[in-house]
Amino acid sequence: MRKLLSGRVARIVGLFMALMASLMPGMAALADNPVLTGAAFWGDPEFDAGKALSYESVDVRVRVWRGGTDGAFQEFEVPRRESQTVLDVVTHIQRALDPTLAYRYACRVGMCGSCAMTVNGAARWTCRTHVDKVAKDGRLTVAPLRNLPVIRDLVAFEPEGRSTDLAASLTYAVRLLNHRSIVVVLSDFLAPSWERPLQRLAARHEVVAVTVDDPRERALPASGWLDLEDAESGRRVLVDAGSREVRGRLASLAERRVEERRRGLAAAGVDHVALITGQDYALPLRRAFALRAKRLHR
Ligand code: FES
Repeated sequence: MRKLLSGRVARIVGLFMALMASLMPGMAALADNPVLTGAAFWGDPEFDAGKALSYESVDVRVRVWRGGTDGAFQEFEVPRRESQTVLDVVTHIQRALDPTLAYRYACRVGMCGSCAMTVNGAARWTCRTHVDKVAKDGRLTVAPLRNLPVIRDLVAFEPEGRSTDLAASLTYAVRLLNHRSIVVVLSDFLAPSWERPLQRLAARHEVVAVTVDDPRERALPASGWLDLEDAESGRRVLVDAGSREVRGRLASLAERRVEERRRGLAAAGVDHVALITGQDYALPLRRAFALRAKRLHR
């Protein structure tokens, strides 16, 4: 069913931690559809040169890239500390000055590489880079890695392929988020083996699953032969949508899949918002979050 119909479905898998940035410290943002490249900070004279400006206080003066390709640097002042790393500086900004700042890290001990950013013009693992070494003048310029598509702010990411791995994303989120957070998972949940990772995530965080379905998956139009392509694998298949029997079989497979998904989400104890392609998303989202707020404040 998945192979037959997924070309018709808006398939988006993402953990929208950026959305929740104001609610949790240590926010990181992930996406599997990065599209932004060639950010405007390349060519910025201060950035490329890692240029020192006057520095007369004990604060670190930090220019941080904000936004995507067409973003701009924003300046912050961060208290200088002994043995302070660049990741500490970025974390301070996100926790104390601007909770919407998006950046990534995981291990904090120089093993995973997820904290890599461009610091004063050079690519560095920021959890291993001490401010004293790179900003003797107390001036830092921090941007996303220059060789990867920019997602937002300091997050740059290159997917390994077109396919998504929901189970791996959920497992990564469990490792990444140290503090109780709200995690919104937007997916059609067609991927395999997501149930256990979702349960583990929901045991530590508040999870909202937003599913997106195409009604043509449940009731294929009687349109004759269809040439369908899997959006992830690129595999194609011909389906005789003019056949009542074929349409019936596909409809019952779709029903079964929806029911299995419903059971999986219920078992994990997550909130579920169901969206339909071609229909207004705003209303069901508003309704779901209003209900959720009411429940939490009871
Ligand atoms: S957070 Fe893992 S290497 Fe820096």
